[in-house]
Order: sequence, then C-alpha cells, then structure tokens
Amino acid sequence: MVSGLRIGGLLLACLLVGCTHQQTRQLPPDNPTVLITGANRGLGLEFSRQYANLNWNVIATCRDPRHADELQALAAEHANVRIEKMDVTSDKQTEALQSRYKNQPIDVLLNNAGIYGTLEKQTLGGFDYDELEEVFRVNTIGSLRVSSAFLENVKRSQQKKIISLGGGMGTQTIGSLFGGHYFIKMSKAAHLMAMGVLQKETKNDGLTIVMISPGRVDTQLMRDSGWTGQSISAEDSAAAVIKQIAALNKSMRGKLITYDGKVIPW
Ligand SMILES: NC(=O)c1ccc[n+]([C@@H]2O[C@H](COP(=O)([O-])OP(=O)(O)OC[C@H]3O[C@@H](n4cnc5c(N)ncnc54)[C@H](OP(=O)(O)O)[C@@H]3O)[C@@H](O)[C@H]2O)c1
Repeated sequence: MVSGLRIGGLLLACLLVGCTHQQTRQLPPDNPTVLITGANRGLGLEFSRQYANLNWNVIATCRDPRHADELQALAAEHANVRIEKMDVTSDKQTEALQSRYKNQPIDVLLNNAGIYGTLEKQTLGGFDYDELEEVFRVNTIGSLRVSSAFLENVKRSQQKKIISLGGGMGTQTIGSLFGGHYFIKMSKAAHLMAMGVLQKETKNDGLTIVMISPGRVDTQLMRDSGWTGQSISAEDSAAAVIKQIAALNKSMRGKLITYDGKVIPW
C-alpha cells in the first residue's frame, strides 16, 4: 500500500514536471547530432533515415508524432533516432523542446519543414491573405524561430551548421523567370534574407548558415506546386544534400546552393 502510494506519487511528480522516458535517455556524446524539422514525411523523413544510417544522433521533430508511422518505424529500428513534437509555428513547443535539450550540442540544424500553399490562392485575382500569412508563419518565421531557439546548441557543437531547404524560388535568378506562385516565392525570399542576416551576426561564432535547394523532388510539396515535369526521388535528393552539407566550408557562408553544388546568386 505504502509502496503503491510512493509509486503513484513519483508518477504524479513526473507528470507535473513533464518527465518522460525520452528525457532520461542520453544521446551518445561522440556522435554528431542533427535536428530536423518536418521529419515525418518527404525529405525530412529521408534525411532522418540517412543520417540515422550514418550513425548520427537524429532529433526528428514533427507536428504529430503519434501519427508519424514511418518515422516511428525508423526509430524502432534505430536507437539513435529520437522523435520529438514540434510545430515550427509554436513558440511554446519550440521553447519547451529547446529547454529539454539545452545542454545538447547540435552540429546540423536542418530547417526542412515547409509548405507551398494553395496555388489558386497565390495567383493574381485569387489572393487569400490568410494563406499568405500561413505560408510565412511556417516557411519564414518558423525557420527563424527554430534557428534562434537552438542557436546556442549549434554554437556549442563541432560543426556549427544551420541549413535551410529551398530558396531558389525566392531569388531573382529563378523566381522572376515566371509569374504566379507569389506566396512561396515571397516566403523563401524573406527566408533567404533572414538566414543571410543571421549568418552575418554569427560569423565570429564560427557558424555556417547555408540554404540548399534540393531540386524538384517527388514529394507532396512538389505536387502542391503543380509541377508535372521531371523530378528526383527524396532518397537521391537527401543523399546529395547531405553530401553538400558535409563538404561546406567557410567560403560558402550565407550562400544559396543547389543539391549538386552550384551557387545561385541572391
Ligand atoms: N519537393 C520539392 O521539389 C522542393 C523543392 C524546393 C524546396 N523544397 C523544400 O524542402 C522542404 C521539405 O519539403 P518536402 O518536399 O519534403 O515536402 P513535404 O513532403 O510536403 O513535407 C513537408 C514537411 O513539412 C512539415 N510541416 C508543415 N508545416 C509544419 C509546421 N507548422 N511545423 C512543423 N512541420 C511542418 C510537414 O509536416 P505535416 O505532415 O505535419 O504537415 C512535412 O513533414 C521544404 O522546406 C520545401 O520548401 C522542396
């Protein structure tokens, strides 16, 4: 009876301070660590899989871990994959996760979560400004929020890299070649600027902040864009992006590059 009460008390205390089984697990300190946003599907899932196979510690974040079946299956096979809940539009969730990992160095912070927005709602004549705000909330503000929240973790790491996915649509070089697609282009242009400014401010801390365009990748986001031409698989794109991340040097700071290493001026 007494021990039953004690166990009940311990459980209650755990619930009150938000203690979970995962909090007590330590990430192996000798392995590099990557934190990925939007890790439940598309490129994010593929990054999680490939970094896990490369023996990195993978903090795979997503909005709804309970329904992230493929990510759950990956974590079941790899002890180095930890699934965490984080909606990049939420200060509360981002801060809560950061505080749980406050002593964890993060070598690569991968801002992967993104949305395209509905095509018709970002076409002249059909603008829906609520949709515009949502695209900014995820693509632009979300990436800045996550980068800012985990900045100290990245500074404390060996590799010190912040990588954001996409960007080409936000440049004069690509985005101005054709009409429409306003919201995605605007959000990625602002995202580029945010990362560019962050790079300037953190240069003396040894950070490397780069945007990488993954190509036309066969994911839901590509289908949302209306693209029906040639595409590459998430597997091939993620492998190429991971290679670029590994090869980054100081001369690439603040740049936008493609998955095959070309620099896109912005
Ligand atoms: N595919 C391409 O051709 C292409 C080209 C250029 C750039 N990119 C960039 O690549 C990145 C990944 O896109 P993808 O192609 O893999 O698209 P995707 O398959 O549609 O995946 C998008 C991911 O973002 C997540 N996400 C959306 N809103 C979120 C939020 N508020 N908080 C956290 N996660 C959120 C989604 O989670 P839910 O399942 O919860 O919605 C999903 O995991 C994006 O930044 C995109 O702009 C892709």
